[in-house]
Amino acid sequence: MNTLDRLANAERAHNPFIYVMAMIVAFNGLLFGFDTGVVSGALLYIRGSFHLSTLLQEAVVSSVLVGAMVGAFTGGNLADRFGRRRLTIVGSIVFFVASIGMALATNVYMLIAWRLIEGVAVGFASIVGTLYISEIAPSDIRGSLGFFQQLMITIGILLAYVTNYVFAPTFLGIVGWRWMLGFGAVPAAILGIGVYFMPESPRWLINNGQPEKAKEVLSRLRSHDELADEIEQIRTVSEAEQQGSLADLREAWVRPALIVGIALAFIQQITGVNSVIYYAPTVLQGLGFSNVASIAGTVGVGIVNTVLTVVAILLADRVGRRPLLLVGTGGMAVMLVILGGSFFVPGLAGVIGWITLVSMILYVAFFAIGLGPVYWLLIAEIYPLRIRGTAEGVASVFNWLANFLVALTFLSVVDTLGKGITFWILAAFTILGFIFIYEQVPETMGRSLEEIEAELQDRALVGGETTGELPTSRDDVDRP
Ligand code: BGC
Repeated sequence: MNTLDRLANAERAHNPFIYVMAMIVAFNGLLFGFDTGVVSGALLYIRGSFHLSTLLQEAVVSSVLVGAMVGAFTGGNLADRFGRRRLTIVGSIVFFVASIGMALATNVYMLIAWRLIEGVAVGFASIVGTLYISEIAPSDIRGSLGFFQQLMITIGILLAYVTNYVFAPTFLGIVGWRWMLGFGAVPAAILGIGVYFMPESPRWLINNGQPEKAKEVLSRLRSHDELADEIEQIRTVSEAEQQGSLADLREAWVRPALIVGIALAFIQQITGVNSVIYYAPTVLQGLGFSNVASIAGTVGVGIVNTVLTVVAILLADRVGRRPLLLVGTGGMAVMLVILGGSFFVPGLAGVIGWITLVSMILYVAFFAIGLGPVYWLLIAEIYPLRIRGTAEGVASVFNWLANFLVALTFLSVVDTLGKGITFWILAAFTILGFIFIYEQVPETMGRSLEEIEAELQDRALVGGETTGELPTSRDDVDRP
C-alpha cells in the first residue's frame, strides 16, 4: 500500500474530528515558530527606536529563549498536574497578553520583560503541543499527527518572515516592529478559543481518576472496536503507576529514555539549524547577494523547511522514525562539509555564493525530514505516562538551553575561526549525533504508547537496565 492509500484508509477509519483537534493544538507550534522567528526582522527597527547597544540587542533576542527554558521546565509538571488542555489555555492567554505588551512597550526594558514572559508561553507550547496530540492520536497515525506541531513551527517561521516584510518599516503611521510583535496575538486568540471547545487528553483523564470522562472523549475520537481495547490498555498502565514527580526521573528504567531525550535535544540544536534559519539573510548579504535577493533566499529556506516537513508527515508512519532521523542527520552532515569546504577553495569567489545557498537549502531540507519533526515527536512518545509531561519538560529545557548557547556563540565563533571551520565544527557535531542516533534511538512506529512503555520496563527488569539500551528496531521489540 503506498502512502496516499494509507492516508486515505486512515482517514476513512479515523474520525475527522481528530485531525481538526490536532490542527488546532498545533497552533502551539505556530506560536513557537512565530515568536522565535519574528525578532530577527523586528530587531532592525527596534534598534532604531530605542538606540540599542549590542548587549541590549542580544538581550531582546535571547530573552525569549531564557523564558522558554523556564516554561519548558515548569510546563511539563503543570501539564501532568492540571492537564494538557488547561495548560494550553493558560499559555494562549500569556501569549496574547505578552504580544500586546511587547507592541506597546515604551522602553527596551519593558520589551525585554514582555519577551521573557512570552518565552514562558513558548516553553509551555513546545511541550504541550505534541504531548496533547500524541495522546489523542490513534497509534497508526500518531507520527503524522505529531508532526503537525513541527509543520506549524515552520509555518510560524514563514509567517514571521512575511509579517516582517508586510509591516516594515511603518504601517498606518505606527512603527513596523510594534505590528510585527503584536501580530502574535492573533494566532494566540485562535489557539485559546479553539482549545476551549476541545476535550482533555483521555490518557490524562484516566491517569487522574476520570475514566468515564475519558471514555466519553475517546468515543468521540475512535471507532467502537478500537475504544474498549485502548481504554483497557491505558487503564492497566495507569493503575500500575502513581502520579510521578521529578524524583522519579532518576529511576533506573526511565534513565535510558531520559538520556535519549536530552541527547536528541542537544543534537537538534548544536547541529546549527537556527544559525541558518535566523542568520540566513546576514550570511547571504555577506556573500554579496543584494538585500532583495537575500530576503528571497531566506523565504526560499523557509518554504523548503515547510514543504519537506510535509514530506516527513507522509513518511512518518510508513518508514519509521529512525530512518528519517538517520537520513536527515546524514544529509545534514554532508551539506555542512560542503558548505564549510566552499570557503577554502580558491578561485570560486562568484560561485561560492551559489554553492552556499544551495547547500544551505539542502541542509535545511534534511533537517526538516529528520531532526526537526522527529525530535519533538519522540520525546512525546518514549516516556512513561505518569511522568510523560515532566520528562518531556526536562528534555525541552535542554533543547532551549542548547538553542540559547548556539545563539550566543555562533556569530563570535564565526568571527574568531571563520565560516569554513565553524561549519566543519557543526559537521563534526552532526556526525557524532548520527552515531548516537544509530546506536541508541528507539523505533516507535506503529506501537501504542503503552506498548513502548511496557517494553522499556521489561528491558529494565531483564537486564536492559545494566546495558541502558532501548530497542532500536521492530525486530528488537518483537524478540521474546
Ligand atoms: C526547532 C527550532 C527550529 C525549528 C526550525 C524546531 O524543531 O526546535 O529550534 O527553529 O525546528 O524549523
